[in-house]
Amino acid sequence: MKPTQIILLVIVLTFSQCFHDEFQVNPAKGDQPIITVKYLNKQIKNHSTNVTGTITLLENPLLHTTFYPSPSGCPGSAPVSVSSDFYHCSFAQNAGFFNVFTKACIGPLVSDGKIIQNPSTIRSSFGITKYGNYSIGYIDQSTINDNVFQNLVSGAIWLVRAGKSFVDESAKIEKISQSFLSERAPRTAIGFNKKGQLLLGSANGLESANEGVNLYEFADLLIENGAYYAANLDGGGSLTTYYKDKILNTCSDHCGSLNKDYPCPSPQGTCERLVTSIVCLK
Ligand SMILES: *[C@@H]1O[C@H](CO)[C@@H](O)[C@H](O)[C@H]1NC(C)=O
Ligand SMILES: *[C@@H]1O[C@H](CO)[C@@H](O)[C@H](O)[C@H]1NC(C)=O
Ligand SMILES: *[C@@H]1O[C@H](CO)[C@@H](O)[C@H](O)[C@H]1NC(C)=O
Repeated sequence: MKPTQIILLVIVLTFSQCFHDEFQVNPAKGDQPIITVKYLNKQIKNHSTNVTGTITLLENPLLHTTFYPSPSGCPGSAPVSVSSDFYHCSFAQNAGFFNVFTKACIGPLVSDGKIIQNPSTIRSSFGITKYGNYSIGYIDQSTINDNVFQNLVSGAIWLVRAGKSFVDESAKIEKISQSFLSERAPRTAIGFNKKGQLLLGSANGLESANEGVNLYEFADLLIENGAYYAANLDGGGSLTTYYKDKILNTCSDHCGSLNKDYPCPSPQGTCERLVTSIVCLK
């Protein structure tokens, strides 16, 4: 190959990693968010106990979905329950990955049209555009700068694409190791079903004991529960599903000096983790 051909190939490869898919958001309206929460309790092959979790559907996402940084911004952190009360959410779940030392968001965050964090990373992102489409996949900086997103959050691993598991393919693109895919942990996801309803998924577990689901199992669980597309968000001790003043998930982090005021109902002795961003339905 000539040097120019090599350069072209590199450009094509780089460009092809910026692909994403779009799908129309269910246009249902209404003053209030129409939310249904379903509890999961399922036997999974090679697991000694059932996997539990939640699938939350939002019928009318367009005016009722916002991704928020913590009340102190990004960098910054707060328990999901605190952020949820601060922003008056009906339902909230933890969202993007963050740097545990600096509390900076990892990757972009667009919150109600405001770009909070740049630059983008080669990580699967999930957004809702200003023209009413979901956008999921690898989104480049110029698309973000063009201000097309009303809300956008960055995850890691595109779990479900067009109703099929996309874990192995996305791991190659994101250069994510096999151990990240196959370890069991509490999990959080965001996506949508074929009707265009927003779908939030969670699977419980105990991070310290390697309990929960691996990403292959999580993708399958989401598909079985109607996910047409989904991206993996921050899991482990960050998993927090907060609805009607209650934490619905089991927590993973022990209570310490930072989080002792935010105990979880189960298991005993666990408390909410302080996280950097939330998905807020309101
Ligand atoms: C929204 O998504 C649909 C379905 O993929 C697509 O046909 C349409 O072109 C998208 N709209 C815009 C403005 O890109
Ligand atoms: C475990 O899940 C299965 C469905 O997969 C269900 O039939 C069974 O009742 C569950 N067991 C418990 C202890 O909840
Ligand atoms: C079953 O789970 C154990 C513990 O996580 C693992 O070591 C083993 O490889 C698994 N077996 C299969 C067939 O997935």
